[in-house]
Amino acid sequence: MTDFDKRLNGYVDEINRAADYYVSARAFEGRESDGLSVMLDAMAYSLGNGGKRIRPMLALEFCRVCGGDYKAAMPLAIGLEMVHTYSLIHDDLPCMDNDDMRRGKPSSHKVFGEANALLAGDSLLTLAFETVLSADISADKKANAALELAKAAGASGMIGGQVMDLANEEKAASLDEIKTTERLKTGALIKAAAAMGCIAAGATHEQINAAQTYCENIGLAFQIVDDILDVTSDEETLGKPIGSDSENGKSTFVSLLGLEDSAQYARELTARAKAALDIFGGEGEFLSELADRLSERKK
Ligand code: IPE
Ligand code: IPE
Ligand code: MG
Ligand code: MG
Ligand code: MG
Repeated sequence: MTDFDKRLNGYVDEINRAADYYVSARAFEGRESDGLSVMLDAMAYSLGNGGKRIRPMLALEFCRVCGGDYKAAMPLAIGLEMVHTYSLIHDDLPCMDNDDMRRGKPSSHKVFGEANALLAGDSLLTLAFETVLSADISADKKANAALELAKAAGASGMIGGQVMDLANEEKAASLDEIKTTERLKTGALIKAAAAMGCIAAGATHEQINAAQTYCENIGLAFQIVDDILDVTSDEETLGKPIGSDSENGKSTFVSLLGLEDSAQYARELTARAKAALDIFGGEGEFLSELADRLSERKK
């Protein structure tokens, strides 16, 4: 196994374990729990193993390369993954993309019903902030990390992007409109991941700027590849239905630029992301390979 794969697998294992803990009955011990078990089940079902864990991994790795203790940043990383997971539960609902599979399993609403899926998403969003604020780092750092997450998740970030994304089903969007949509719906949370890792480490301005540039570029590339895979992959590999975008009549990079030019654009963005890592020297190697892997990913 290469050093890259060792670190990647190590992160995924640690993230999976921590994610399980924060939605376990143990974490909720001593609180009102009557009638809570279906909600804990629904939260654990979606947060559990299956996702690539890119956002928490970015937070942990940026903390590490900026000289921090990545283990102390774990609650921040899990908070990010909770927000991301909630967004996926809601994204799959019939009123949104109406997709029945997620992470290789039936979507939350197919298992728990629409109302419980909606509520499981709400609970994960709230629990995300509780989790971030439980971190064993200074009060200032926790507050700043929570602020970054709130700004990225909300109306001027991910939710704003989701609103624009739905509007792109009703009209032929321009390339600029698609870029803005994708920068918000996917890029904002990826950028927040870097910012939160940097905050935990007490990073310098130079490190923060480099991290932001890297994430702006991989964030856009990530969604372009997601749009490509929606056309070129298959449900078994992807763990979610393909053809969802065209079925919903959605303008995407692929519908505007075609597959080839979209892939070329993702490669250019990946190169720009990697160039931003220069200031980290050899320590930036994992992030550099991660950018390549994400641009070539098949799921
Ligand atoms: C899917 O995100 C939704 C997008 C923002 C493109 P991921 O591709 O990170 O999904 P998981 O977490 O690996 O399931
Ligand atoms: C969703 O984008 C982005 C979110 C904020 C959830 P998509 O709708 O393209 O994500 P998938 O393809 O269903 O994972
Ligand atoms: Mg969607
Ligand atoms: Mg979707
Ligand atoms: Mg998609």
